[in-house]
Parts: sequence; structure tokens; C-alpha cells
Amino acid sequence: MKVTIIGTGYVGLVTGACLAEMGNHVLCLDLDAAKIRTLDSGGMPIHEPGLLEVVRRNVAAGRLQFTTDVERAVAHGTLQFIAVGTPPDEDGSADLQYVLAAARNIGRLMTDYKVVIDKSTVPVGTGDKVRGVIAEELATRGVDVGFAVVSNPEFLKEGAAVADFMRPDRIVIGASDERAILLMRSLYAPFVRNHDRVLVMDVRSAELTKYAANAMLATRISFMNGLSQVAERLGADIEMVRQGIGSDPRIGMHFLYAGVGYGGSCFPKDVSALARSATEAGSPLRLLEAVEAINEQQKRVLVEKIVRRLGDNLNGKTIALWGLAFKPNTDDMREAPSRTIIAELARRGALIRAYDPVAAQEAVRVMGDVPGLLVVDSAASALQGADALAIVTEWKEFRTPDFEAIRAALRTPVVFDGRNLYEPETMAAFGLEYHCIGRPSWPAAVA
Ligand SMILES: NC(=O)c1ccc[n+]([C@@H]2O[C@H](COP(=O)([O-])OP(=O)(O)OC[C@H]3O[C@@H](n4cnc5c(N)ncnc54)[C@H](O)[C@@H]3O)[C@@H](O)[C@H]2O)c1
Repeated sequence: MKVTIIGTGYVGLVTGACLAEMGNHVLCLDLDAAKIRTLDSGGMPIHEPGLLEVVRRNVAAGRLQFTTDVERAVAHGTLQFIAVGTPPDEDGSADLQYVLAAARNIGRLMTDYKVVIDKSTVPVGTGDKVRGVIAEELATRGVDVGFAVVSNPEFLKEGAAVADFMRPDRIVIGASDERAILLMRSLYAPFVRNHDRVLVMDVRSAELTKYAANAMLATRISFMNGLSQVAERLGADIEMVRQGIGSDPRIGMHFLYAGVGYGGSCFPKDVSALARSATEAGSPLRLLEAVEAINEQQKRVLVEKIVRRLGDNLNGKTIALWGLAFKPNTDDMREAPSRTIIAELARRGALIRAYDPVAAQEAVRVMGDVPGLLVVDSAASALQGADALAIVTEWKEFRTPDFEAIRAALRTPVVFDGRNLYEPETMAAFGLEYHCIGRPSWPAAVA
């Protein structure tokens, strides 16, 4: 099938590459000429495991192309995926300007039947707005060309996006047009060969499903983060509690880790957009206000522990910081808790020697002007001359570090672990003072 992807970011590029992998002819459009130049010259604008190989293979096979030419993009695909950003507006609602601009371009230029597919995360009712602007453009041109609008939210996880797209848990298709449903089913058939995981529903339910999924996951995280603070006060261990409740199949083990708060390009904005939609609909979801408030508080918990131990004035102190990306296996720094943590440390006068296996360049781009922040190129280099170590992202390479070397490098052998990577007994054995989240610190007296 001929497919156009509008917006070649994390979602658009993965979608385009994976659809090409199944034999479709895909043209990816982006307005960012630098991004398209990078892709055209064989480069990769984002870090996503396995993506470069899929892109290269399909470009070589002639099934995947990139362009900044809107006219060519609209002409190419019968299926037009909209995968542009939907950032938060000032009031927390989703800003639809990019989605509607993309839809308007389709209406302005289309000459034959199109299925316009919202893959961006968009509030309930956006399908109607997309249909409205396309119809308006067609009316202005005085032409009558058929089209359908479909909601097809994306559930991939950054860091595992290719695997998620190739083997989806479910594919949600919100549509009422039979021809469009048939085309969508056949597009996705290769991805669900062993058993059908396609859920066809109305557009509004599909739109709401995406927000509901992210809000539920964010709620689990905030629940555990809130509980971790209770556990600290009551002398319980959140890790034990996690295992104790996660083994109940009704609860399950996923998304139950206490940490430094959720971040990324989706949870924060999607929770806030759903809260906004609910309020506007006259049915406020108060639960989500608590989810957001706990998350904001949690992003400061590690700094509070540092301040309790090293004092509020961190002038002359150096903190080694491991992990900048909002989670492992991505270079995405959008809403990363590290940004709040670094800003809070810098505000108190600390110098920060930060290391991340892949997000260094992106971190310098978004935080390069933070005074006292130095992004270094290894975990060991971050420790040089540091008073303490703070762990913010749970990259695999931090799981079994050289504890002797950490102790030798730090001026005070103290580790603040925002991801509960280590056992307090192990740290005790290496003579490292250890502060983590929702667990007794070692030695207990300095908690
Ligand atoms: N990143 C994720 O993990 C993820 C997962 C599921 C859903 N989503 C949703 O998917 C959407 C896209 O997210 P993303 O992370 O891929 O965003 P992104 O910022 O990485 O990419 C969006 C791209 O769209 C381009 N763009 C904007 N307007 C355009 C236009 N009119 N025509 C062509 N290109 C245009 C931008 O230049 C940018 O490259 C969002 O709604 C997001 O909530 C994201």
C-alpha cells in the first residue's frame, strides 16, 4: 500500500519504517529540513534501538523515502498518517495546531480518496475537527473528493519502539467508514498474524483509550511514589511492598517502581490534557490532580535527601549525576526528572558532573545554559572530584558498577539512588552511605 507519514519524529519514523518493512511504500514528510537531510544522508535524528537498521534496509529497497515537499506527500499515500506533536497548551490542554495544519494541507491538495489517520495523541473530538478542516478546504476549492478520518493511537514505548510496533499488544482503530476499516485491517494484518489484536471501535472511544492508558500508567507510578514516602516514614521497604502487591495477578508487576517521578513526552502532557478535557466536559477527574501533584513533589525528593545530608547551601559541592534521559534506551529529554533535579542543585550553588550513555548531546542542547552543569563522557569521569553520586536514570551500565572505584573517587562516600538500583547491604559492604527511595537508608542513623 502507499502510505504517507506526516511528522517524522519518534512515532512517525518508527511507524513509517515498520510499515515499509512489511512491503508498503512509505513517504515520510517533515517540515524540519535538517531532520530530513539527516535521514537522507543515512543518519538518524533520534536514538531508538534497532531503528537505524530497519530504516537503512527499507531505504535501500526503495520502499522508504523522506521529503519536505507537502504536495508530493499528499499525492503519495492513500493512507495519510498524522504523527505530528501535540504539546501542552498554556492551560494544559493539547495544542492541536500541528495536527490541524497537517489536515488542512491534505484538504488543500488531495485529488483522490484518502484515509486520514490520527496517530498523534489527540483529545476526544479531534477526529471531528480534522474532518471539519478537510471538508472546509475541499469546499473552498469547490471539489468533491471522498475521504475518511480514522483514529489509530500509538502505544509504542520509546526505547523499545520498533519491537512494540512489530509485535503490538493491540491495535486500536477508531472508525465508522467500512472502506477505511478494511484498509486499516489489511495494513496491520502482517503485525497480528498469530492472533488478531485489532480492536475496531468508534473514533471517540479510540481517542479516549490512548489518554486512559497513559493516565492509568501514570497513576500507578504516582501511587507507588506516594506510598514510598509513607514507607520511609513508617520504616517499611517499598521494594518489599512492590513485590508483595505485584505478585497479585489483578495488580501485576509493571509500572510499580518508586523513583524520581515520571517524565517524557507523553505522560505529563497526556495526564494534564485528560484532566483538562474531563473538566471541560463537566466531569473533573480529581484523581489526576493528585497524580500530577505527587509527581511534581517526587521530582524533588532526591534533592531533598541531598540537602538533608549535605546542607541547603551547596556552594563548593560537586554532585556526580548518572542518567539524564527520562528513561533508559532513549535520548529523549522532554520533561525528564533530571532537568528539575539539576535545576534545583544548580540553584543551590552545586556543580554537577552529569553523564548519560546516549542523551549527552540532547542534554547540552536543552540544558547547556544551566550554570555549573558539565556533561561528561563517562560514568567514571562524572565521579572525579565529586562529593556525592546521584543516580537518576536506571541505565543497565549503572546496575553493577565498580563500587570500590565509586568509594575511592567520592570525597564523601555517599550515594543518592533515585532508582533503587542497589541493595542497602551491598552498599554497606562497600562502605558506601546509601540513600534510596522508600527504603531504609544505610546507615539508618543518617536517614
Ligand atoms: N514519543 C512517544 O513515545 C509517543 C508514543 C505514543 C504516542 N505519541 C504521540 O505521537 C505524537 C508525535 O509524538 P513524537 O514523540 O513522535 O513527536 P516528535 O516531536 O518527535 O515528532 C513530531 C514531528 O512532526 C513534525 N511536524 C510538525 N508539524 C508538521 C506538519 N504540519 N507537517 C509535517 N511535519 C510536521 C515536527 O517537525 C516533528 O519532527 C504526539 O501526539 C505524541 O503524544 C508519542
